[in-house]
Amino acid sequence: MSGCGSDTFYLAPLRGVTGRTFRAVQARHFTPAPVAVAPFIPTCAGDRVKPAVLADIVPDPETPVEVIPQLIGKDPGQLRVMLRALKDMGYLKADLNAGCPWPFVAKKGRGCGLMANAESFERMLEAGCDELPDGFSVKVRLGLKDPGLLAERMTVINRYPLREVTIHPRTAKQMYDGQVDLGIFAEVLPLCRHPVVYNGDIRTCADWQTLKRRFPQVTRWMVGRGMAMNPALMESFLAGMDLPPDYGRIAGFCADYLETAAAELAGPTQVLGRMKELWSYLHFIYPDGETRWKSIRLCHTLDEYLRVVRG
Ligand SMILES: Cc1cc2nc3c(=O)[nH]c(=O)nc-3n(C[C@H](O)[C@H](O)[C@H](O)COP(=O)(O)O)c2cc1C
Repeated sequence: MSGCGSDTFYLAPLRGVTGRTFRAVQARHFTPAPVAVAPFIPTCAGDRVKPAVLADIVPDPETPVEVIPQLIGKDPGQLRVMLRALKDMGYLKADLNAGCPWPFVAKKGRGCGLMANAESFERMLEAGCDELPDGFSVKVRLGLKDPGLLAERMTVINRYPLREVTIHPRTAKQMYDGQVDLGIFAEVLPLCRHPVVYNGDIRTCADWQTLKRRFPQVTRWMVGRGMAMNPALMESFLAGMDLPPDYGRIAGFCADYLETAAAELAGPTQVLGRMKELWSYLHFIYPDGETRWKSIRLCHTLDEYLRVVRG
């Protein structure tokens, strides 16, 4: 199986979905993407980082996936404190979130809001590259409202020795919906002197192959919702074709996900919430997915949930 040649696949950070539980359980049941960018961790004031903040990225020797922590914030001093904490945990790579589109985040100058302020963006890249030489990367969008902003920010991005730049070709205004703008992606790609990771709307092996034909210079691909909808997707990339879903294996994955979440979370309400988050994606792979999802969404207890999924 070598359908993806020298290309590298990354599991995208989806807060509430592709964290520690997903990484571990996916790797137990399917071939995982070899690299996972972990859901963002906010930087915070003070010169020490509380261990609870780092719980999602405590190294897990059982999971054969390289985890790259991701941070969100706008204060270079706070970023340094956090990066030092990551280095103490053994991490040599970290990613900066400059793409989160939620208005309450962006308005505070974090996530995509960093792109709005060239000076603040630059200070963060400077601090990150200084703390983690060769190990710091950034994840961006095309802009907030104007998809031309990323091209403008390339001057700043190219000034620092970043390890890679992940581009999600939507504006913040689009959130996660509407078309990815591949025309503008094609324009910014040659402007970036760093390796580029493409991210957005890869749901199938065929989607990836179409993008690969259009952008042969890209060899790094990040997949979020597609991997949550089909946790076996990496196996299709490796086979070079879309493999039919194996519902037996998916059922095993779900049962393990529930058990693992139950061991990690405080109580059944949280576990049910975690299962609903997962199913908000997973149902797409089932022919009767809409009906399943509707029933799961209405469950109030884990027993009800188990009755629905066991049919
Ligand atoms: C529920 C949810 C949570 C997300 N959390 C993060 C995050 O923590 N960090 C980040 O950089 N992007 C986050 N994203 C964006 C995804 O990483 C990714 O850029 C986006 O979903 C597009 O890729 P996809 O079409 O492969 O899912 C999130 C997206 C969703 C829908």
